[in-house]
Amino acid sequence: MNNSRKRVLSGIQPTHDSFHLGNHLGAVKNWVAMQDENDSFYCVVDLHSLTVETDPKVLRNRSMVSVAQLLALGLDPAKCTLFLQSQVPAHNQLAWIMECMTGFGEAGRMTQFKDKSSKNGADRTVVGLFTYPMLMAADILLYQADFVPVGEDQRQHIELTRDLGQRFNSKYGQTFQIPAPYIMKAGAKINDLQEPTSKMSKSSPSQTGVINILDTPEVNAKKIKSAVTDTGREVIFDEVSKPGVSNLLTIHSTISGQSIPELEEYFSGKGYGDLKSSVAEVVVDFLNPVRVRVNELLAEPAYLHSVLKLGAEKAEVVANQTLKQTYEALGLVPRD
Ligand code: TYM
Repeated sequence: MNNSRKRVLSGIQPTHDSFHLGNHLGAVKNWVAMQDENDSFYCVVDLHSLTVETDPKVLRNRSMVSVAQLLALGLDPAKCTLFLQSQVPAHNQLAWIMECMTGFGEAGRMTQFKDKSSKNGADRTVVGLFTYPMLMAADILLYQADFVPVGEDQRQHIELTRDLGQRFNSKYGQTFQIPAPYIMKAGAKINDLQEPTSKMSKSSPSQTGVINILDTPEVNAKKIKSAVTDTGREVIFDEVSKPGVSNLLTIHSTISGQSIPELEEYFSGKGYGDLKSSVAEVVVDFLNPVRVRVNELLAEPAYLHSVLKLGAEKAEVVANQTLKQTYEALGLVPRD
């Protein structure tokens, strides 16, 4: 292995029947771009998804659909290691160590935990939601990751991971690489088409502003054409006064590769309707082959399982090595 290659790790939850466009533009697109030059590990974090109660059959299906989507979006098992988190037990094992390193108050300050627990109330919030960021820290630190490609909403979790890694290293000796978030400016926060100041989210109560990768072209085109736009008529990127238009321009630009100034120039003298039609076309053209490929892959479960088996075997070698060093550093007595 070439040692100058950087280590990359990221994860995605299989909580829904489809990923949405924000997942792709904020994260998966960068995973694909990074697999060529880096030693990259990508996991479907099925254990994290247990914080939301799900029917076992549905969870099993969503995990496989998630893997199929990642492959269809461009991950190549010959270039990266793709695996299911639950198939590498070291994740849970290091998570416990991370829980023992995290302050109660520190965990309580995680904004995603605060938002979700305040929405549902203490009695309907599981403890796993509280310890979720420590499992995520374990995911990252186990692989000695240099970079973690994610969307903006994961920044705080990566900050905590860095703090925990540094805390461990200073108490018990150098054990973990301290990871850096890899968050691209464009695409890091794709917003809901109906509420363009809030992020596009799998758990939004209304799905009318969420573009699902696996929805039909008709559904997606209709959602884009019904997107909320702003006052005025000019197609100009300005996130404060034109959040709707800016979100559409970002979506267009990150998929088509045309820069925002190029798009502004192209749409000058044209209206919001033209922008929406063009975004719908770009999105639908991009998603069509992805959807077809997902269906082909789902028809080959043996292939998907073989990718995951190989991925888990490769991941486990790295993860177990880190776990062994961590146990040793802590003074846990080895069996042999
Ligand atoms: P998850 O499953 O919610 O989302 C997966 C990735 O998609 C990004 N994302 C977005 N990016 C731009 N705009 C949006 N509207 C948008 N919505 C979601 C997320 O930032 C994420 O990168 N906690 C993580 C999963 C995780 C993980 C990890 C990530 C578990 N362990 C280790 C990195 C490393 C999560 O819930 O992502």
